Amino acid sequence: MTSENPAPGRGLRAGLPARFARAVGARANGPAGRGRRRLGTIVRISAALALAGGVYASFAPGMAAAEDTSALTPAAQLGKGLFDTSCTTCHGANAQGVPGRGPSLIGVGAASVEFQVSSGRMPMARQEAQAQRKDPFFNEDQTRQLAQYIQELGGGPEIPQGPLTPTGSKEATAEAVARGGQLFRLNCGSCHTAGTGGGALSSGKFAPAIAPASERQIYAAMLTGPQNMPVFGDNQLTPEQKREVIAYVQTMQAQEPGGWGMGKLGPVTEGLAIFLLGMTALVFTSLWIAGKS
Ligand code: HEC
Ligand code: HEC
Repeated sequence: MTSENPAPGRGLRAGLPARFARAVGARANGPAGRGRRRLGTIVRISAALALAGGVYASFAPGMAAAEDTSALTPAAQLGKGLFDTSCTTCHGANAQGVPGRGPSLIGVGAASVEFQVSSGRMPMARQEAQAQRKDPFFNEDQTRQLAQYIQELGGGPEIPQGPLTPTGSKEATAEAVARGGQLFRLNCGSCHTAGTGGGALSSGKFAPAIAPASERQIYAAMLTGPQNMPVFGDNQLTPEQKREVIAYVQTMQAQEPGGWGMGKLGPVTEGLAIFLLGMTALVFTSLWIAGKS
Protein backbone atom coordinates (compact mmCIF):
# COMPACT_ATOMS: atom_id res chain seq x y z
CA MET A 1 0.00 0.00 0.00
CA THR A 2 2.44 2.60 1.27
CA SER A 3 5.06 1.69 -1.31
CA GLU A 4 2.59 2.03 -4.22
CA ASN A 5 0.97 5.32 -3.12
CA PRO A 6 3.22 8.37 -3.14
CA ALA A 7 3.17 10.65 -0.07
CA PRO A 8 0.27 13.13 -0.16
CA GLY A 9 2.58 16.08 -0.54
CA ARG A 10 4.48 14.53 -3.39
CA GLY A 11 1.27 13.38 -5.02
CA LEU A 12 -0.01 16.92 -5.15
CA ARG A 13 3.15 18.67 -6.12
CA ALA A 14 4.82 16.17 -8.38
CA GLY A 15 2.40 13.30 -9.04
CA LEU A 16 -0.27 15.31 -10.85
CA PRO A 17 1.97 17.20 -13.27
CA ALA A 18 3.88 13.97 -13.93
CA ARG A 19 0.68 12.16 -14.79
CA PHE A 20 -0.45 15.01 -17.06
CA ALA A 21 2.94 15.08 -18.72
CA ARG A 22 2.72 11.32 -19.31
CA ALA A 23 -0.79 11.58 -20.74
CA VAL A 24 0.23 14.45 -22.92
CA GLY A 25 3.62 13.07 -23.83
CA ALA A 26 2.38 9.58 -24.69
CA ARG A 27 1.16 10.67 -28.10
CA ALA A 28 3.81 13.35 -28.68
CA ASN A 29 6.64 12.33 -31.00
CA GLY A 30 8.81 15.46 -31.07
CA PRO A 31 9.72 18.38 -28.82
CA ALA A 32 7.63 20.80 -30.96
CA GLY A 33 4.55 18.54 -30.94
CA ARG A 34 4.88 17.99 -27.21
CA GLY A 35 4.97 21.76 -26.60
CA ARG A 36 1.93 22.32 -28.72
CA ARG A 37 0.00 19.52 -27.03
CA ARG A 38 0.93 20.80 -23.58
CA LEU A 39 -0.32 24.25 -24.58
CA GLY A 40 -3.55 22.63 -25.81
CA THR A 41 -4.02 20.88 -22.49
CA ILE A 42 -3.52 24.11 -20.58
CA VAL A 43 -6.09 25.81 -22.78
CA ARG A 44 -8.52 22.92 -22.29
CA ILE A 45 -8.04 22.89 -18.52
CA SER A 46 -8.52 26.66 -18.33
CA ALA A 47 -11.66 26.39 -20.44
CA ALA A 48 -13.02 23.65 -18.16
CA LEU A 49 -12.27 25.73 -15.07
CA ALA A 50 -13.92 28.80 -16.61
CA LEU A 51 -16.97 26.72 -17.54
CA ALA A 52 -17.21 25.31 -14.01
CA GLY A 53 -16.94 28.84 -12.63
CA GLY A 54 -19.65 30.05 -14.98
CA VAL A 55 -22.02 27.22 -14.03
CA TYR A 56 -21.38 27.94 -10.36
CA ALA A 57 -22.00 31.67 -10.81
CA SER A 58 -25.26 31.06 -12.65
CA PHE A 59 -26.49 28.80 -9.85
CA ALA A 60 -25.48 31.24 -7.14
CA PRO A 61 -26.47 34.68 -8.49
CA GLY A 62 -27.26 35.97 -5.01
CA MET A 63 -23.74 35.32 -3.78
CA ALA A 64 -22.15 36.87 -6.85
CA ALA A 65 -24.26 40.04 -6.47
CA ALA A 66 -23.61 40.25 -2.74
CA GLU A 67 -19.88 40.11 -3.30
CA ASP A 68 -20.07 42.86 -5.92
CA THR A 69 -21.54 45.51 -3.59
CA SER A 70 -18.17 47.20 -3.15
CA ALA A 71 -18.05 47.79 -6.92
CA LEU A 72 -21.14 50.03 -6.78
CA THR A 73 -20.75 53.80 -7.09
CA PRO A 74 -21.73 55.83 -3.99
CA ALA A 75 -25.08 56.83 -5.58
CA ALA A 76 -25.89 53.21 -6.35
CA GLN A 77 -25.00 52.18 -2.81
CA LEU A 78 -27.49 54.72 -1.47
CA GLY A 79 -30.00 53.35 -3.96
CA LYS A 80 -29.34 49.83 -2.70
CA GLY A 81 -30.15 50.98 0.82
CA LEU A 82 -33.51 52.35 -0.34
CA PHE A 83 -34.16 49.25 -2.39
CA ASP A 84 -33.44 46.94 0.55
CA THR A 85 -36.10 48.62 2.70
CA SER A 86 -38.82 49.35 0.09
CA CYS A 87 -38.61 46.93 -2.81
CA THR A 88 -37.17 43.56 -1.78
CA THR A 89 -40.48 42.09 -0.52
CA CYS A 90 -41.73 41.99 -4.12
CA HIS A 91 -38.57 42.16 -6.23
CA GLY A 92 -36.18 40.04 -4.15
CA ALA A 93 -32.97 40.84 -2.26
CA ASN A 94 -30.96 41.15 -5.48
CA ALA A 95 -33.79 42.38 -7.72
CA GLN A 96 -34.07 38.87 -9.15
CA GLY A 97 -37.88 38.89 -8.69
CA VAL A 98 -40.24 37.02 -6.38
CA PRO A 99 -42.69 34.58 -8.01
CA GLY A 100 -46.26 35.86 -7.73
CA ARG A 101 -45.18 39.22 -6.31
CA GLY A 102 -42.94 41.17 -8.61
CA PRO A 103 -40.85 40.64 -11.75
CA SER A 104 -37.06 40.55 -11.95
CA LEU A 105 -35.55 44.00 -12.42
CA ILE A 106 -32.28 42.72 -13.89
CA GLY A 107 -31.79 44.50 -17.20
CA VAL A 108 -34.87 46.79 -17.00
CA GLY A 109 -32.51 49.76 -16.75
CA ALA A 110 -32.53 53.14 -15.03
CA ALA A 111 -35.23 54.44 -17.39
CA SER A 112 -37.78 51.90 -16.17
CA VAL A 113 -37.02 52.57 -12.50
CA GLU A 114 -37.23 56.32 -12.98
CA PHE A 115 -40.55 55.98 -14.83
CA GLN A 116 -42.07 53.66 -12.22
CA VAL A 117 -40.82 55.46 -9.12
CA SER A 118 -41.20 59.09 -10.26
CA SER A 119 -44.79 58.47 -11.38
CA GLY A 120 -45.55 56.96 -7.98
CA ARG A 121 -46.40 53.53 -9.45
CA MET A 122 -43.61 51.95 -7.39
CA PRO A 123 -43.38 51.02 -4.60
CA MET A 124 -46.66 49.31 -5.34
CA ALA A 125 -48.96 49.37 -2.32
CA ARG A 126 -50.79 46.13 -3.05
CA GLN A 127 -51.21 43.63 -5.88
CA GLU A 128 -53.57 45.04 -8.50
CA ALA A 129 -54.27 44.63 -12.22
CA GLN A 130 -52.15 47.69 -13.01
CA ALA A 131 -49.99 49.91 -10.84
CA GLN A 132 -51.63 53.35 -10.58
CA ARG A 133 -50.00 56.74 -10.95
CA LYS A 134 -49.90 58.45 -7.56
CA ASP A 135 -47.82 61.02 -5.67
CA PRO A 136 -44.21 59.79 -5.70
CA PHE A 137 -42.97 58.20 -2.49
CA PHE A 138 -39.31 59.14 -3.13
CA ASN A 139 -37.83 62.51 -4.02
CA GLU A 140 -35.87 63.15 -7.21
CA ASP A 141 -32.45 62.34 -5.72
CA GLN A 142 -33.63 59.08 -4.19
CA THR A 143 -35.32 58.11 -7.46
CA ARG A 144 -32.05 58.61 -9.37
CA GLN A 145 -30.17 56.60 -6.73
CA LEU A 146 -32.60 53.68 -7.04
CA ALA A 147 -32.33 53.91 -10.83
CA GLN A 148 -28.53 53.98 -10.63
CA TYR A 149 -28.50 50.86 -8.46
CA ILE A 150 -30.65 48.84 -10.88
CA GLN A 151 -28.58 50.16 -13.80
CA GLU A 152 -25.30 49.03 -12.25
CA LEU A 153 -26.81 45.69 -11.23
CA GLY A 154 -28.01 44.58 -14.62
CA GLY A 155 -27.74 47.32 -17.26
CA GLY A 156 -30.58 48.24 -19.58
CA PRO A 157 -32.11 51.29 -21.26
CA GLU A 158 -31.23 54.75 -19.92
CA ILE A 159 -32.77 58.16 -20.64
CA PRO A 160 -30.19 59.99 -22.79
CA GLN A 161 -28.38 63.10 -21.61
CA GLY A 162 -29.31 66.44 -23.12
CA PRO A 163 -32.59 68.03 -24.20
CA LEU A 164 -35.60 65.72 -24.65
CA THR A 165 -37.53 68.06 -26.93
CA PRO A 166 -36.51 69.33 -30.40
CA THR A 167 -34.26 72.37 -30.40
CA GLY A 168 -34.09 75.03 -33.09
CA SER A 169 -35.97 77.97 -34.53
CA LYS A 170 -39.68 78.57 -33.95
CA GLU A 171 -40.52 77.28 -37.44
CA ALA A 172 -38.40 74.18 -37.00
CA THR A 173 -40.10 73.47 -33.67
CA ALA A 174 -43.55 73.89 -35.22
CA GLU A 175 -42.63 71.39 -37.92
CA ALA A 176 -41.29 69.02 -35.29
CA VAL A 177 -44.59 69.24 -33.40
CA ALA A 178 -46.51 68.46 -36.59
CA ARG A 179 -44.30 65.43 -37.28
CA GLY A 180 -44.72 64.42 -33.64
CA GLY A 181 -48.50 64.56 -34.05
CA GLN A 182 -48.33 62.22 -37.04
CA LEU A 183 -46.07 59.81 -35.17
CA PHE A 184 -48.34 59.95 -32.15
CA ARG A 185 -51.50 59.19 -34.13
CA LEU A 186 -49.70 56.34 -35.88
CA ASN A 187 -47.98 54.74 -32.88
CA CYS A 188 -49.79 55.81 -29.74
CA GLY A 189 -53.29 57.01 -30.67
CA SER A 190 -54.81 53.52 -30.80
CA CYS A 191 -54.39 53.21 -27.03
CA HIS A 192 -54.02 56.75 -25.70
CA THR A 193 -56.45 58.35 -28.27
CA ALA A 194 -55.23 61.00 -30.69
CA GLY A 195 -55.96 63.71 -28.11
CA THR A 196 -53.63 61.93 -25.60
CA GLY A 197 -56.58 61.51 -23.21
CA GLY A 198 -56.20 57.77 -22.70
CA GLY A 199 -58.68 54.90 -22.95
CA ALA A 200 -59.69 51.49 -21.69
CA LEU A 201 -57.90 48.26 -22.66
CA SER A 202 -59.07 44.71 -21.94
CA SER A 203 -59.43 43.01 -18.51
CA GLY A 204 -59.44 46.02 -16.20
CA LYS A 205 -56.35 47.59 -17.77
CA PHE A 206 -56.20 51.01 -19.36
CA ALA A 207 -53.90 53.36 -21.22
CA PRO A 208 -53.73 56.41 -18.97
CA ALA A 209 -54.03 60.04 -19.99
CA ILE A 210 -50.56 61.37 -20.81
CA ALA A 211 -51.36 64.80 -19.37
CA PRO A 212 -49.56 64.36 -16.03
CA ALA A 213 -46.37 62.84 -17.49
CA SER A 214 -43.13 64.86 -17.56
CA GLU A 215 -40.84 64.78 -20.61
CA ARG A 216 -38.50 62.35 -18.86
CA GLN A 217 -41.45 60.09 -18.06
CA ILE A 218 -42.76 60.20 -21.63
CA TYR A 219 -39.29 59.35 -22.96
CA ALA A 220 -38.88 56.55 -20.41
CA ALA A 221 -42.35 55.14 -21.17
CA MET A 222 -41.47 54.85 -24.87
CA LEU A 223 -38.07 53.33 -24.08
CA THR A 224 -39.33 50.72 -21.59
CA GLY A 225 -42.97 49.97 -22.51
CA PRO A 226 -44.60 49.65 -19.08
CA GLN A 227 -47.28 46.96 -18.68
CA ASN A 228 -49.30 46.52 -21.92
CA MET A 229 -47.52 49.32 -23.73
CA PRO A 230 -45.09 48.17 -26.45
CA VAL A 231 -41.41 49.11 -26.26
CA PHE A 232 -40.46 51.77 -28.81
CA GLY A 233 -36.74 51.09 -29.15
CA ASP A 234 -34.51 53.40 -31.16
CA ASN A 235 -35.19 51.26 -34.26
CA GLN A 236 -38.94 51.87 -34.06
CA LEU A 237 -38.71 55.55 -33.10
CA THR A 238 -35.33 57.28 -33.37
CA PRO A 239 -34.32 59.55 -30.46
CA GLU A 240 -35.19 62.54 -32.68
CA GLN A 241 -38.67 61.12 -33.36
CA LYS A 242 -39.17 60.52 -29.64
CA ARG A 243 -38.37 64.20 -29.04
CA GLU A 244 -40.95 65.16 -31.68
CA VAL A 245 -43.58 62.99 -30.02
CA ILE A 246 -42.80 64.66 -26.68
CA ALA A 247 -43.12 68.11 -28.27
CA TYR A 248 -46.55 67.15 -29.64
CA VAL A 249 -47.71 65.78 -26.27
CA GLN A 250 -46.57 68.99 -24.57
CA THR A 251 -48.59 71.17 -26.95
CA MET A 252 -51.61 68.98 -26.19
CA GLN A 253 -50.88 69.32 -22.47
CA ALA A 254 -50.78 73.11 -22.84
CA GLN A 255 -54.15 73.24 -24.59
CA GLU A 256 -56.92 72.89 -22.03
CA PRO A 257 -59.91 71.86 -24.16
CA GLY A 258 -63.15 73.61 -23.15
CA GLY A 259 -66.51 71.95 -22.53
CA TRP A 260 -67.17 68.66 -20.88
CA GLY A 261 -63.69 67.19 -21.24
CA MET A 262 -64.90 63.81 -22.46
CA GLY A 263 -62.10 61.32 -22.35
CA LYS A 264 -60.37 63.05 -19.46
CA LEU A 265 -61.96 60.54 -17.12
CA GLY A 266 -61.73 57.85 -19.77
CA PRO A 267 -64.46 55.26 -19.99
CA VAL A 268 -66.55 56.74 -17.17
CA THR A 269 -67.64 59.97 -18.88
CA GLU A 270 -67.95 58.30 -22.24
CA GLY A 271 -70.21 55.58 -20.83
CA LEU A 272 -72.30 58.17 -19.02
CA ALA A 273 -72.69 60.19 -22.23
CA ILE A 274 -73.81 57.17 -24.22
CA PHE A 275 -76.18 56.16 -21.42
CA LEU A 276 -77.80 59.62 -21.17
CA LEU A 277 -78.11 60.05 -24.95
CA GLY A 278 -79.44 56.51 -25.35
CA MET A 279 -82.00 56.88 -22.56
CA THR A 280 -83.26 60.19 -23.92
CA ALA A 281 -83.60 58.68 -27.38
CA LEU A 282 -85.50 55.66 -25.98
CA VAL A 283 -87.92 57.82 -23.95
CA PHE A 284 -88.74 60.03 -26.93
CA THR A 285 -89.18 57.02 -29.23
CA SER A 286 -91.61 55.34 -26.81
CA LEU A 287 -93.54 58.62 -26.36
CA TRP A 288 -93.75 58.91 -30.15
CA ILE A 289 -95.00 55.29 -30.48
CA ALA A 290 -97.54 55.84 -27.66
CA GLY A 291 -98.80 59.00 -29.36
CA LYS A 292 -99.32 57.16 -32.68
CA SER A 293 -101.38 54.29 -31.31
C1 HEC B 1 -46.22 45.10 -3.48
C2 HEC B 1 -45.21 44.64 -4.41
C3 HEC B 1 -44.20 45.59 -5.01
C4 HEC B 1 -43.35 46.49 -4.37
C5 HEC B 1 -43.24 46.78 -2.89
C6 HEC B 1 -42.54 47.09 -5.41
N1 HEC B 1 -42.90 46.59 -6.64
FE1 HEC B 1 -42.09 47.11 -8.44
N2 HEC B 1 -43.44 45.87 -9.41
C7 HEC B 1 -44.37 45.07 -8.78
C8 HEC B 1 -45.17 44.40 -9.80
C9 HEC B 1 -46.30 43.42 -9.54
C10 HEC B 1 -44.69 44.85 -11.05
C11 HEC B 1 -45.18 44.46 -12.44
C12 HEC B 1 -46.54 45.03 -12.74
C13 HEC B 1 -46.56 46.47 -13.19
O1 HEC B 1 -45.62 46.94 -13.83
O2 HEC B 1 -47.56 47.16 -12.91
C14 HEC B 1 -43.60 45.77 -10.77
C15 HEC B 1 -42.85 46.41 -11.75
C16 HEC B 1 -41.74 47.21 -11.48
C17 HEC B 1 -40.89 47.79 -12.49
C18 HEC B 1 -41.05 47.62 -13.99
C19 HEC B 1 -40.23 46.48 -14.46
C20 HEC B 1 -40.12 46.42 -15.96
O3 HEC B 1 -40.27 45.32 -16.50
O4 HEC B 1 -39.85 47.45 -16.59
C21 HEC B 1 -39.91 48.49 -11.84
C22 HEC B 1 -38.76 49.25 -12.46
C23 HEC B 1 -40.16 48.36 -10.42
N3 HEC B 1 -41.27 47.58 -10.25
C24 HEC B 1 -39.39 48.95 -9.44
C25 HEC B 1 -39.70 48.92 -8.08
C26 HEC B 1 -38.93 49.63 -7.09
C27 HEC B 1 -37.68 50.46 -7.36
C28 HEC B 1 -39.55 49.40 -5.89
C29 HEC B 1 -39.17 49.96 -4.53
C30 HEC B 1 -39.08 51.39 -4.44
C31 HEC B 1 -40.70 48.51 -6.15
N4 HEC B 1 -40.74 48.26 -7.50
C32 HEC B 1 -41.55 48.04 -5.19
C33 HEC B 1 -44.54 44.91 -7.42
C34 HEC B 1 -43.91 45.67 -6.44
C1 HEC C 1 -50.95 48.94 -26.84
C2 HEC C 1 -51.35 50.14 -26.15
C3 HEC C 1 -50.35 51.30 -26.04
C4 HEC C 1 -49.66 51.96 -27.03
C5 HEC C 1 -49.67 51.66 -28.52
C6 HEC C 1 -48.93 53.03 -26.38
N1 HEC C 1 -49.16 52.98 -25.02
FE1 HEC C 1 -48.45 54.32 -23.66
N2 HEC C 1 -49.30 53.23 -22.16
C7 HEC C 1 -50.09 52.11 -22.33
C8 HEC C 1 -50.41 51.56 -21.02
C9 HEC C 1 -51.22 50.31 -20.76
C10 HEC C 1 -49.82 52.42 -20.06
C11 HEC C 1 -49.88 52.27 -18.54
C12 HEC C 1 -48.70 51.50 -18.03
C13 HEC C 1 -48.67 51.38 -16.52
O1 HEC C 1 -49.48 52.00 -15.85
O2 HEC C 1 -47.79 50.67 -16.01
C14 HEC C 1 -49.16 53.46 -20.81
C15 HEC C 1 -48.49 54.53 -20.22
C16 HEC C 1 -47.93 55.58 -20.90
C17 HEC C 1 -47.36 56.75 -20.28
C18 HEC C 1 -47.32 57.06 -18.80
C19 HEC C 1 -48.42 58.02 -18.39
C20 HEC C 1 -48.41 58.23 -16.91
O3 HEC C 1 -49.46 58.06 -16.29
O4 HEC C 1 -47.38 58.54 -16.34
C21 HEC C 1 -46.88 57.54 -21.28
C22 HEC C 1 -46.20 58.87 -21.12
C23 HEC C 1 -47.15 56.85 -22.53
N3 HEC C 1 -47.80 55.67 -22.27
C24 HEC C 1 -46.79 57.32 -23.78
C25 HEC C 1 -46.97 56.62 -24.97
C26 HEC C 1 -46.46 57.07 -26.24
C27 HEC C 1 -45.72 58.36 -26.47
C28 HEC C 1 -46.81 56.10 -27.15
C29 HEC C 1 -46.47 56.05 -28.63
C30 HEC C 1 -45.10 56.23 -29.01
C31 HEC C 1 -47.56 55.06 -26.44
N4 HEC C 1 -47.62 55.41 -25.13
C32 HEC C 1 -48.11 53.92 -27.04
C33 HEC C 1 -50.48 51.56 -23.53
C34 HEC C 1 -50.02 51.94 -24.77
